[in-house]
This record gives sequence, structure tokens and C-alpha cells, in this order.
Amino acid sequence: MKNIDSYTHVRGESVYLDDIPVVNGTLYAAVFDSPVAHGKIISLDINEAAGMPGVVRIFTASDIPGENQIGGIVPDEELLADSHVHFCGMPIALVIAESEEVARAAVKKIKAVIEPLPVITDPREAKEKGELIIPPRTFQIGNTTAAWKDCDHIFEGRTETNGQEHLYIETQGAYAVPQEHGAIRIYSSTQGPTAVQRTAARVLGVAMNQIEVDTTRLGGGFGGKEDQATTWGVLCALATFHLKKPVKYSLHRMEDMRMTGKRHPYSSDFKIGLNKGLKIIAYEATFYQNAGAAADLSPAVMERTLFHCTNSYFVPHVKATAYSCRTHLPPNTAFRGFGGPQGMFVIEAAIAKAAEQLHVPASVIQQKNLLTTGDEFPYGQKADSEATECWNRTDELFDIQQLQQEVASFNASNKLYKKGIALMPICFGISFTKTLMNQARSLVHVYTDGSVGISTGAVEMGQGVNTKMLQVAAKIFSVDPARIKVNTTNTYRITNTSPTAASAAADLNGKATEIACATILQRLKQVAADELKTSADVIEIKNETVYANGKKTAWDWNKLVMSTYVKRINLSELAHYTPPGIHYDATKEKGHPFSYHVYGTAITTVTVDCLRGIYEVDSVKAVHDFGSSMNTMIDMGQCEGGIVQGIGWMTMEELVYDKEGKLRSNALSTYKVPDIYSVPKEIIVHPLATEKDNLAIFRSKAVGEPPLMYGIGAYFALRNAVKAFNPAADIPYDAPMTPEKVLMSLYQTPVL
Ligand code: MTE
Ligand code: HPA
Ligand code: MOS
Repeated sequence: MKNIDSYTHVRGESVYLDDIPVVNGTLYAAVFDSPVAHGKIISLDINEAAGMPGVVRIFTASDIPGENQIGGIVPDEELLADSHVHFCGMPIALVIAESEEVARAAVKKIKAVIEPLPVITDPREAKEKGELIIPPRTFQIGNTTAAWKDCDHIFEGRTETNGQEHLYIETQGAYAVPQEHGAIRIYSSTQGPTAVQRTAARVLGVAMNQIEVDTTRLGGGFGGKEDQATTWGVLCALATFHLKKPVKYSLHRMEDMRMTGKRHPYSSDFKIGLNKGLKIIAYEATFYQNAGAAADLSPAVMERTLFHCTNSYFVPHVKATAYSCRTHLPPNTAFRGFGGPQGMFVIEAAIAKAAEQLHVPASVIQQKNLLTTGDEFPYGQKADSEATECWNRTDELFDIQQLQQEVASFNASNKLYKKGIALMPICFGISFTKTLMNQARSLVHVYTDGSVGISTGAVEMGQGVNTKMLQVAAKIFSVDPARIKVNTTNTYRITNTSPTAASAAADLNGKATEIACATILQRLKQVAADELKTSADVIEIKNETVYANGKKTAWDWNKLVMSTYVKRINLSELAHYTPPGIHYDATKEKGHPFSYHVYGTAITTVTVDCLRGIYEVDSVKAVHDFGSSMNTMIDMGQCEGGIVQGIGWMTMEELVYDKEGKLRSNALSTYKVPDIYSVPKEIIVHPLATEKDNLAIFRSKAVGEPPLMYGIGAYFALRNAVKAFNPAADIPYDAPMTPEKVLMSLYQTPVL
């Protein structure tokens, strides 16, 4: 089935925040944000700005009626800076004006005197100084200390992965509109309507039932709007609260890039030990997460780094420790993969280092250590693994050795162009790592004309979750999909939602929808059974026709729905779903946190122009574990998008903060994301079709985040290409591998 948004997207009719018709009298907001990364506010002069024609009010921390606090996991983040600023871009004052232009012009007239304090941008320095967001955590299995003596080869190293700008096409924004009895409706471009609602209530000092959050769809979120859409929603609500007027704020791209957090940069150390047979015996890793100035989601992101630190390999002895380090960058946040990719990069670097030193292809080590069913992850869950199936199927379909030989022979016969190839197996756990977040609700209404309306807590952000929700109802009811409508995500209809994140939205909300539809269907069947003088278990509805004992009856969906209504039987249902069997004990760091894992293997081939250092990704060929996909077009789209976004992170997107904590890559002229010319020339994704049961909706495994991690293969393929040109190059494990770094490595001479 086609994505239900495709038609309106192409015609420009889909409604994003900025397309919502504004109410007469709407005012516009703009933020004055900190020009320095760390300091004490000595004075703030808003007089000139406040006197400009069209400026209505300027709010500061002292105007907050409730708590000046937006921290979700840890209460450590002010909405508006009170006495100190902690990052460049931290909101200090909120200008409200009659137009966007006036609001932004007024921001420029605000003057702050800020006494500078020392700035930390490096996570290792933060850790040295004791600046940790939460205490460190360690995941452990076996005993690494004892295991090193069983290793024939031991390698150590250090890796860096940089952050990543989300670059959702729709920037952050919100529109708050006053309602009766002091209530406020906030239209918000958020992945987490409840987070916006809860935080607005806290900041305004009102009950949650006074705040309605409504979200039609996002022009992309990618994790950047899981927690960080809240600021803008709450700022607009703050102004609406005081002024009793509608207030809108839709950020300019540079405001968004400057003020919001990104994927967490990590600096990490590894130690890996292998035996003669190239089995990984022991692995130690230490992760220094650059959390930025406040916790935001960093503790949860850090946890997922630990969960995925061994990627899709079984390692009997593991010790992995992670530090969430407080620096003076904007608080970093969720980004597709949620810390998993950062953890996986480190073990891939460790394997690459072992391979380079032992003169074997990394793929040999990778393959020998893939997880098999029953293997235990360091956190105690046993793998139900498709890792070897994906790898073997990749080999059958694409012939790994043949591809490696083609690269070798190309390199043997070309001087100025070199190819590189790398394998990237993935393993990603599905469920929010915080067990309680794994719950969802769905409200299904059947109207008397037989049409159906669905509301869930899922937010559509391009990933196609609304289409999947519609498919669930269409399948359970067996009605024409055209008769079903998926409504906006609204906190008055669906409460206490978890954000649309962790790739789990389709599973959680889909299963709730399945339950709601099944409950209504059961009532309909009982009505049909009563009318047809038979029992409900012999009634079926197929394509809107009622069957009894497999035989067509004179009843159809419309007639059945109307009769049910006439009998005063409920045609609506609010269902609740929680996945069974998940638990986690953080005091022991053991449990069964994930409903299941998603696996896959990708082969990436690149060509480097060894004169200029520029490169192309020739192909990404993958076998991906979709379970049994309920929408192959959407799922393939998720794979392609994820792969390109992952390659961007690993090869070209270079986030630059200077030593003063100022973002230098603050516009699209200085921050390069993949465009149509830099996507792989070929992306082939084959489904691993297995009949295995799983806990996914209709066995269609979650697909949102896992494919991003195939992009890590591009980094290692580039390294291999560079090594083919300059075997002596000692290339640090430092991503992204930008053309500049490629060029430097190509002509690097060994330091003796
Ligand atoms: N795809 C599109 N087009 N836009 C997005 O913002 N976000 C990704 C992924 N795919 C995203 C996307 C992220 S970070 C997640 S967690 C999942 O979608 C969330 O949606 P799901 O749970 O429905 O897969
Ligand atoms: N993934 C994504 N978002 C989250 C998670 C997670 O595991 N936990 C809390 N927010
Ligand atoms: Mo996705 S990073 O879990 O929003």
C-alpha cells in the first residue's frame, strides 16, 4: 500500500506546523540566546528592544509562573537562563512582537553583559574535572581481566565519532492558542506531545489537563524532536499564558542549528583480545559521551551505547564503561540509533585494527564472531539471532569474496583511483530501554456510516507510521482502506504517550490499534451472530461482507455497523498495549530489555580519487531482517534514508564547535549533508524472509533506526581504499572520514 501522505505531499497540501492557518491577532516569538558558552549574567538590557514599534512584551526567567525547569530525566535545565548561561544558544529572553521580522529585529537590540567562565568542550576533560551528568555505568559479562591471558593477540586503540545535525527539513516550531477557562492548545512539531504537555504544565504551574498538544505531522524528527521540541512549545505557551493571545514561533534554520543539541559526539578507548582462530575472547571499552550542558536524554542514550557495544558479535568476556560528560555545548539528544551507532563504531574499529595488524580482511573476523541463537549479550538477554542468516544470505546473493577480489584487481590495475570494501553487520534492540515507556494506546471509532477513525500516540514524521496504523485497522476489520482516517496526535484523545521513538511506534501503537479493532469486531460479530441465529465464532467479515460458517450472508459491513448502533452497542474502543516479557534491573545491569533484535548485513564499496581525496560510494548491498514486512515500500524507504543518513554521519557531516563552544558549522554552507549526488550509486536491500515468530506488529519488525548503522561500513570502506593507496598510513579511528581527512591520509608519511 502506498504511503497515505504521498498524494498530499506531492501536491504540497500536507499540513506542517507552518501551514496551520493562523488566528487573527497572532503574535510572533523570537529568542535572544546566549552568545557565550559559559558565564554569569551580570545585566540584561531589553529597553531598546522593548521600545521598538510592534514589540509587545519581552519575557525572561522571572516571568515564569511555575518551575523554570525543562529537564526530563534529570531536572538540570532551565527554560530561560536565570543567573548563568551554560551553552552558546541557551535561551535568555523571549521577544513577542506583531510580526516575525519585528521579533527578530528586536532580539538584535537586546544587550547582555555576561562574565565569562571557563568553557569545556571536550568530554575527557569534563570527566577529569568530575563533570558527570550521572554516575558512570558498567556492563560486564565473564571476566576480562582473567581472559587476556587466553588471548593470542591483543590490540588497543582510541576512536572518535563526531556529532550530527538532525537537519529535519521542517525546523523546530510551535503555535500556542488560548482556549476557554485558561486552557492552552499547543500545535507542536514534536515527537513527544506528552513531553510538551507535561513540561508546559510544570513551567506554567497549571494542571496537565489545561494543556492540549496537537501534532499533525513533522517534516522529519530523527530524534531531534523527541525532547527538544519542548522548549519552543513551552515558550509559546508561556507567552500565551500571560498575553492571552495566540503566539507562534517557527525557527529559522540557523537559529535551529545554533540552539538545539545534536547526536552525541563520543571519544572512546578499546582493548580487544583474540585467539589464534580469530575468535574474540575479550573486549573492553570506555565511552566518553559528550552530553552537552544538561542531561536531556543523555543518560538513556549512554545506556543504549552500552547495550550495543558488541554489535552483532558474541564476546564471552566484556567490560564496557560509559561516562556521560557535562560540557558547554547545547545539550545533545536523541538521533536515529540513540547511542547505538556510537557503541557499534568502536567495536568495528577494534576489529578493523586487529584485521589490519594481522593482515586478514576484517570480514573474516566479523564472520567468525557473529551471534548465534542462545548467545548471551553482556546485559543478560539471550540472542534469538538472525545475524548469521543475514550474513550468509548476503554472501549467497552478492558473493562477498568475488566483490573483494574485484576491488583487489581494480586496485592492482589503477594507480590514482582506489576502491575499498567493508562489511557491516548490525544488531539493534527494539523497545525503549526504559521499560515503563513501552506502552501505548489507540482510540478507534466506527461511525454509523461504516467509516473508521483512528487516534494513537504515534507521530507521523515521514516514517509512514500513519499508513501502518491504517493498515492494521483495514486488516482487522477487512474494510476498504479508503474508509479509514488516521487523526492527528492529540493529548486530549490519547494521554500519557511515550514519544514516537526507539523505532517502536508502529509496534506499540499498532498493537494497541489491533486490540481496539479486534474488540469492536468481536461486538460486531456478536450482533451478526444474534441476527443470523448462530454463534459469533463462525462469523467472519471479509471485504466488508459478513460470512457465517464460510458462507456469504446478506449482511455487509454497513448494515452490521448500523444494526450495532441501533442496538446501542459501543462502536468505539480505547485499547492499551504493553509488550510482554521485558524487564531490566539497572542495579545488576542484567535483564531482558528488548522485545526482539533487528539484524542485517551490508556490503559497502567506495572509490577514492587519490589525487583529490574525493570519493564516491559505489554501492551498498544489504540483506535486512524485516521480519515479514507489512509495507515493503515504506520499509525500503526507511532503509534507503537510514543508509544515506548513516553515510552522511560517517563521511561528510562535520560538526565544528570552536574552543569557546561556538558552533562554526552553523549553516548549510558550512555543514555538508548528503545530496542526490553523494548518495550511493546503487542501494540494494534484500529482505531476509524468515517465518520466525516475533513480537512485532504483524511480525513486521521495526525498521526506523537500524539501517542507519549500515552507514558505518562506508567509513571502513574508505579507510581500506586509502590503505590500498598508502599502506603505511596510520589513520586514526576518527569519523567522519571527510575528503580532507582522506586526502591527508593518502599523502601521510609515516612518523618514525
Ligand atoms: N524517517 C523519516 N522519514 N523521518 C524521521 O524523522 N525518524 C527516525 C525513523 N525514521 C524518522 C524516520 C527515528 S529516529 C525513529 S526512532 C523512527 O523513525 C520513529 O518512528 P517509528 O517508531 O515509527 O519507526
Ligand atoms: N530509544 C529512543 N528514545 C528513547 C529511548 C530509547 O531507547 N529511551 C528513552 N527515549
Ligand atoms: Mo529516534 S532517535 O528514537 O527518535
